[in-house]
Amino acid sequence: MTKAQRQAIENHQEFLIENPTSFHPRELFPEKSEVVVEIGSGMGEATAEIAKTFPEKGFLAIEVHRPGIGSLILRALALEVANVKMINDDCHLILDLIEDGSVDTFHIFFPDPWPKTKHKKRRLINEEFSRVLSTKLRTGGVLRVATDWQEYATQIRRVLDENPDLTGGIVERPEWRPLTKFESQGINKEHRVTDFLYTKI
Ligand SMILES: C[S@@+](CC[C@H](N)C(=O)[O-])C[C@H]1O[C@@H](n2cnc3c(N)ncnc32)[C@H](O)[C@@H]1O
Repeated sequence: MTKAQRQAIENHQEFLIENPTSFHPRELFPEKSEVVVEIGSGMGEATAEIAKTFPEKGFLAIEVHRPGIGSLILRALALEVANVKMINDDCHLILDLIEDGSVDTFHIFFPDPWPKTKHKKRRLINEEFSRVLSTKLRTGGVLRVATDWQEYATQIRRVLDENPDLTGGIVERPEWRPLTKFESQGINKEHRVTDFLYTKI
């Protein structure tokens, strides 16, 4: 963690939700029309920019890697966005605390691909996680996923297609999703990026 990231966390507790107990995402942003829950916000590059693009929405970023939280705070300050809050923990624990049927939108952009065969079971998006996501979404709520790893894209499509509570598939890249360092590195290696959109029925 850089000094700036550590200081950002120490001095800007207003962005952080520490030791959460059961909650409804709208309680965190009572004045917003919709709340987006982002899983694995990384260094917050996309999160801060998307929050700037949609000031009418609240954004809850869940990220297990603490420097990423510091980095997102720095980006939020630089872009002067106040509609972002963060939880520094494993999303599995946090999703357990979120009320069922309460999430308007999930963003999961470039989840770790775990390309080696022996590591594939570490992938975030599997059958069980798909069920957790659809349970937490409200009816009509939306799940957006992007990956640059083709074989993971095939897995994501299969598990989300098999979930009877979701409908959707591959979509065009949304023009508001910024090109992050992580995504450009993939594109430089000639990885094809796939965007998905599923709706809770
Ligand atoms: C490959 S990075 C992508 C980051 C960002 N979404 C982007 O597009 O640049 C995946 C991120 O997911 C986070 N992550 C992985 N498993 C997680 C979990 N169980 N809970 C919360 N964050 C997680 C990692 O720490 C990492 O920052």
